[in-house]
Order: sequence, then C-alpha cells, then structure tokens
Amino acid sequence: MSRTRFRSIAVMTGGGDCPGLNAVIRAVTKTAISKYALEVWGIQDGYLGLIENRINRLSYNDVSNILTVGGTILGTSNTADPFKFPVPCPISAKPQFKDVSGNCLKALQQRNIDGLVCIGGDGTMASAARLAKKGLPIVGVPKTIDNDLYGTDVTFGFNTAVTTATDAIDKVHTSASSHHRVMIVEVMGRYAGWIALYSGVAGGADVILIPEIPYKLGKVCEYVLGRSRRGKRFSIVVVSEGARQVGGQMVVQKRIATSPDPLRLGGIGNKLAEDIYRQTGLDCRAVILGHIQRGGTPTPYDRTLATNFGHAAVELLVRGIRNRMVVLKGGRLSSISLSRVAGKIRNVPRNHELIKAALAIGTSFGT
Ligand code: F6P
Repeated sequence: MSRTRFRSIAVMTGGGDCPGLNAVIRAVTKTAISKYALEVWGIQDGYLGLIENRINRLSYNDVSNILTVGGTILGTSNTADPFKFPVPCPISAKPQFKDVSGNCLKALQQRNIDGLVCIGGDGTMASAARLAKKGLPIVGVPKTIDNDLYGTDVTFGFNTAVTTATDAIDKVHTSASSHHRVMIVEVMGRYAGWIALYSGVAGGADVILIPEIPYKLGKVCEYVLGRSRRGKRFSIVVVSEGARQVGGQMVVQKRIATSPDPLRLGGIGNKLAEDIYRQTGLDCRAVILGHIQRGGTPTPYDRTLATNFGHAAVELLVRGIRNRMVVLKGGRLSSISLSRVAGKIRNVPRNHELIKAALAIGTSFGT
C-alpha cells in the first residue's frame, strides 16, 4: 500500500447518464481504498447532491459487481449548476437563479475531503473549472456518449452508444429491404455527429447526415431515388439529432428553462421521413433511438477506458495534481487543464478520415 498525505476523496457523476459511469466509480473507489487506504465518499445526484450536502461513504463492497451495470449507482442530474442554481418558483414564472457554489465547498470541508473526482461532460467540466478556481482540488473524467468533449480523443460511453446504434441499424436493414422502404434512424449526439458517423459507417448506411455538414434535401432525395432506379429498393439514412438543412435550423424537441443547456434536440428523423416522402413518393419510416443509446452494459472498450480514467484520476489527486481532466490523446493517457476544456465542443472535422472513407465507398452526406 502506498503512503500519501492525502486522506479522503469524493466522487460524483454529473450530466446525462452513460454506459461506463459505474466502471469509473469502481476504479476510483478501489484504487483509493486498496492502493492508498483513502476514505471514499460518494456524492448523490451530481452537483445537486453536493449543493444539498447529500454525501455518503463508499466501501469496497459498495462498488463490487457494478463494472457491467449501466447508469450510475450515485445518481446524476443534468440541470444543477452550482453557479446558476434555480430558485424554486411556480412553473409559469420566469426562472430565477442564484450562486450556491459556497455550499459545495462547505459540504466537502465538513468531511475533510481532500479531492474530488468529477465524472461528466462539458457542463460538468465547466462548473468543475469554476469550483477549482474557488479552491476545490478537482480532477475531471470525460464522460459522454456524444464524444464531443474538448481535449480528449475519446470519451467513455461513446463506444457503447455506437455499438447500440449499429445494432439498431442492422435490425432496421432487414425491415427496410423486406418492405422496400427508406428507413431513417435518428441518433443522439447534440451538436456533434460522432455517433451518426461511426454507427452509420459501421451499419452500412447509404446516407449519413451530421450537424457539421448541413445537407441539401434535393441531394438526399436524388440519392435514394437513384438507388431505387438501380434496383436497390431500400435505403438507410442515419441522421444525427443536430443535423440541419443548408440554411435551416436544428429541430428542437423541448426547452428546459432551468437547465444550463436548455435545448433538447430531437425530431429531425420524422421531419426527414415526411420531406423525403413528399419529394420522392417513396415509403419512409423513422426510428428514433433516443435514450436507449445511453443504457445497457458498457462494451469491453468502455469498461477498460473507464477503469484507466478512474485510476488515472486518483493518481493525479494523490500526487497533488489538481484542476485537470484526464484524457486519452494519441492512444496515451494524460491530462489537460479544466479551464481549457470549459465552454468548448469537439466537432467532427470535415476532413475526418472516416468521412473520406465513407465518401469513397459511395455514402452520401447529402451534399
Ligand atoms: O449528452 C448526452 C445526450 O444524450 C445527448 O446526446 C442528448 O441530446 C441529450 O443528452 C439528451 O438529454 P436529456 O437526458 O436531458 O433528454
């Protein structure tokens, strides 16, 4: 067992859930207990639990048998920002916010917690960077199925989401071919097209539409009609929830006024099905995968990545390195300053290798 002046560590999961969260919690807790004999605390429901002082001890047994389990044993919240926390008010009233970040510091100081592992996406990291400036020793772990976090080549959860989406595309294929239909599969990803690009290529989609490449409806219709004329009487279109036509807007499903990122995208799949049907007369159906992509057991890739990230986060904190996020860059684990991550999104570059490969094999991006 290694000796350290570090005594106590806390862990929390923030933002949308994602396969692999439990694998990180497990790696953090087991490393902290077995390697450094630290006390480990689990914060309930992300920043909400930190603000409301809901923090419990985590034992080795608490994290046993959770490696393969989706979701998070700690719970999470994607609407609690310590610097912009909604004040309770009637649902019809204009939301008011206040800064409750002081609560977070107090809750940790009360328990003599020396460092915090924040597992989350861009919203969680943005708040973590601000809390770090107030003196909280934090290390972030990059989580999101969207794979859009700045500074890392990959986030855990992405591989599982792509696997789930690809499985759905494979299943839709047989139905599309049997009924001679255009099947549109809408996947998540927010403002980045990583899930659509990877699952689309893996699933052999004919058309892939991503936010980074606005599409022309005429080109999509020409493409599926062309296939039909050549005897390919079905087509598979994979569309990212954030995709939009050239000169058009993203389709917003709802606005959550109290959320730090109030827009929830969704609905482009149904719109596209209607648009393609009107222009081509081809029978179209839309399938919206939604939160299914966030569930299920993590793939072996995500389990190992999550374990590496969790272990690396504890190592940084016990070595006195703080206010950083662990990353995987060029196949190597390293870290980046939290302040460099905050407020940025990692989009698919238009010259990405996989786009080039997809174009070369005849996939359309609607351009
Ligand atoms: O960031 C993960 C994600 O699943 C996005 O792909 C999606 O746009 C969003 O979260 C959905 O959020 P919610 O859980 O609030 O519906």
